[in-house]
Amino acid sequence: TGCFTYDNGFTATAACRSAITYIDGDAGVLMYRGYPIEQLAKQSNFVEVAYLLMHGELPKQDELAKFEGDITHHTMLHEAFKNFLDGFRHDAHPMAMLMGMVGSMASFYHNNLDYEDPAERRLAAIRLIAKVPTIAAACYRYSIGWPLRYPRNNLEYVTRFLHMMKEVPSEPLELNPVAAKALDLLFILHADHEQNASTSTVRLVGSTGANPYACVAAGVAALWGPAHGGANEAVLKMLGEIGRPENVQSAVDKAKDKESGFRLMGFGHRVYKNFDPRAKIIREMTYKVLDELGVNDPLLDVAIKLEEAALKDEYFIQRKLYPNVDFYSGIIYKALGIPTEMFTVMFAIARTAGWVSHWLEQQADPENKIGRPRQVYTGATERDYVAIGKR
Ligand code: CMC
Repeated sequence: TGCFTYDNGFTATAACRSAITYIDGDAGVLMYRGYPIEQLAKQSNFVEVAYLLMHGELPKQDELAKFEGDITHHTMLHEAFKNFLDGFRHDAHPMAMLMGMVGSMASFYHNNLDYEDPAERRLAAIRLIAKVPTIAAACYRYSIGWPLRYPRNNLEYVTRFLHMMKEVPSEPLELNPVAAKALDLLFILHADHEQNASTSTVRLVGSTGANPYACVAAGVAALWGPAHGGANEAVLKMLGEIGRPENVQSAVDKAKDKESGFRLMGFGHRVYKNFDPRAKIIREMTYKVLDELGVNDPLLDVAIKLEEAALKDEYFIQRKLYPNVDFYSGIIYKALGIPTEMFTVMFAIARTAGWVSHWLEQQADPENKIGRPRQVYTGATERDYVAIGKR
């Protein structure tokens, strides 16, 4: 009862107006601020895309230089973060650490009243874009017992992150330019995707006026699930379980059997029902990376066989289930030597640009009101309380 519609999974409800990202799922179109993703992928870079998402326009040279300078200025973490990090178990999942560490930023920049000032809101957004990679690298190094490294601010965004994560003093990190380009491309493709589960979470928390770092920590939590950003990690786990190309067909058959409860991770999308335009771009880069790095990994053979088998299977064709961006991102991360537990963290670094852009848009929106869905009640009708001895 009540004058509202049951919309399980919000498949038909727009919860806000937004001018950031446009998707046409049937036509396979994705645009940030009106610019097609294919053009941004080819001609732009992640930091410029982050500027575009946040500000609505592509930056002029001096605007981009100032933006990069602002980000670089905020890459360091307060030393007290180390104490916080030290409290995690040695085998904590990096997403659990990231969620906690981003949430803890609220305790460093905590005065919510400041956020009524647009300049303070912009600063929070910059801090998040700047510090999330530093936190992500710290979580990784902590999980393998390596000492933390400070950000090398003479490097640009993606290479700075890779150095912070992987560099050891005795062996200077040799970065293949194709690897760095592939990571930058993945960051562009993952930067925003309108009202996906994690962005909607950021907005729902943001609608209450909560601290921006708390909002983004909630976004990290939502992203972690295997139906969302956790899919890239789930893809690699699944490939490991399949193990050998000979086992691919039985995995495909199992995914078609509803009783099995097994789905092919990295296939299907809520919005894209023909193809995922990001997957199209990244597929090409995946083969380039594998070629360039000369990677020889049996799991990658399994992935290629699986892609082939699913694409010609009637079940997947009928339901329009195509490999999504996370199918290929997992393969690239693996080829770049990034450990599986870090995959969703990589996604979170990129999506931070989208989360903060949506938070900024929402906070400046005079129509913003607290998000408060309704429900269809299915519980008991009214009944009388029964004393414990009489139940
Ligand atoms: N393997 C096997 N069957 C599938 C799969 C799959 N991966 N995905 C959907 N189906 C079937 C599903 O069983 C249903 O069949 P039927 O019509 O016979 O009941 C039909 O396809 C429609 O599925 P749905 O669950 O109603 O679709 P949805 O829009 O609610 O779910 C999805 C979209 C992405 C959650 C789902 O396709 C899925 O679980 N995929 C695997 C996880 C994954 O790769 N997630 C990453 C999504 S992209 C990145 C991101 O958003 O973060």
